Amino acid sequence: MKLLVTGGAGFIGSNFVHYMLKEHPEYEIINVDALTYAGNLENLKSIESSPNYTFVKADIQDKAAMDVLFQQGIDVVVNFAAESHVDRSILDPAIFVKTNVLGTQVLLDTAKKYGITKFVQVSTDEVYGTLGLTGFFTEETPLAPNSPYSASKAGGDLLVRAYHETFGLPVNITRCSNNYGPYQFPEKLIPLMISRAVNDQPLPVYGDGLNIRDWLYVEDHCSAIDLVIHQGASGEVYNIGGSNERTNLQIVKTILAELGKPESLITFVQDRPGHDRRYGIDPTKLTSELGWTPKHNFESGIKETIRWYLEHQEWWSRIQSGVYQEYYKKQYGAR
Ligand code: NAD
Ligand code: DAU
Repeated sequence: MKLLVTGGAGFIGSNFVHYMLKEHPEYEIINVDALTYAGNLENLKSIESSPNYTFVKADIQDKAAMDVLFQQGIDVVVNFAAESHVDRSILDPAIFVKTNVLGTQVLLDTAKKYGITKFVQVSTDEVYGTLGLTGFFTEETPLAPNSPYSASKAGGDLLVRAYHETFGLPVNITRCSNNYGPYQFPEKLIPLMISRAVNDQPLPVYGDGLNIRDWLYVEDHCSAIDLVIHQGASGEVYNIGGSNERTNLQIVKTILAELGKPESLITFVQDRPGHDRRYGIDPTKLTSELGWTPKHNFESGIKETIRWYLEHQEWWSRIQSGVYQEYYKKQYGAR
């Protein structure tokens, strides 16, 4: 199988490339990534010389570049490439529409032109908007995105659906809850709080800290996508989540306790505009129809993750200091 992974130099994409090379050593994997601020080839260093792995630097919005890629005969596309950070989407929504909507449409068009066996759109529970204290997101929950990020992801999802209905493209959409684990860019809650706590810096908690997220270890997200590639019924949406709801304050306090740092580092700051209160996934369709079960429980997963960041301080220090960005600007040109 020839698998095109877009955004494979980011957090989940790079974990997915590692996972697929381990689980399916016979597959040929092409990773296409524009190497934005969030793309880091260091995540893939250990497999960069694998004979069945290739990296191509290109933007998914670039029709000519996508055409050249698909001419190689792609079987399956897994589209991770995205602008992924909600706070950045509040500062600058335009790039989110370009990559997450237009980029997805360019990929779909090229997939339609050359023919593929499956297009998996890696989406998010955030397209459903927010929950109150009760209930869960199912695949039937209406889309009600509240941030420019989630609105752009919903736009991408609707195009994927439309290419299935109109052109018969074989697709799946997966909607996962919050991931954590190795290689997550240190702007996201867990790695940000770990890196700041290690340096005894204040931990900025938005609002009252009681917003709830449903956390899943990244490898469990990868195993779910692997199942969807092989067993997902064409045109179907699958929610992915491990039923691990925690308030942000619980997460931050867990990190502080694990690192032996004082809770006095917690600093309540102005809330995120449009901040969704609670996400909670009902994964029944994935567990009952495809037989998926997550392997990691939150208590051990978060400990493992904290340990990983402690053992890879150089990885996140380089990103935070800008050394990494300077290097890649020189190596690959600015973007
Ligand atoms: P990330 O920001 O860590 O990585 C995104 C990757 O996409 C980077 O390598 C970046 O260089 C690349 N990219 C960005 N724009 C591009 C473009 N125009 N062309 C080619 N490559 C481009 O993101 P992540 O957290 O790994 O998320 C990956 C996907 O999973 C996204 O689609 C996101 O919406 C979705 N998702 C994330 C989570 C989560 O908790 N992080 C949960 C559910 C779904
Ligand atoms: O639910 C899936 C989504 O999870 C993905 O689609 C997104 O790509 C991913 O970024 C993530 O979005 P969130 O907004 O939930 O993640 P983030 O890490 O930015 O924030 C998690 C929670 O922590 C959220 O309620 C906001 C809060 N927060 C975040 C930061 C960065 C803080 O309180 N302080 C912070 O400094």
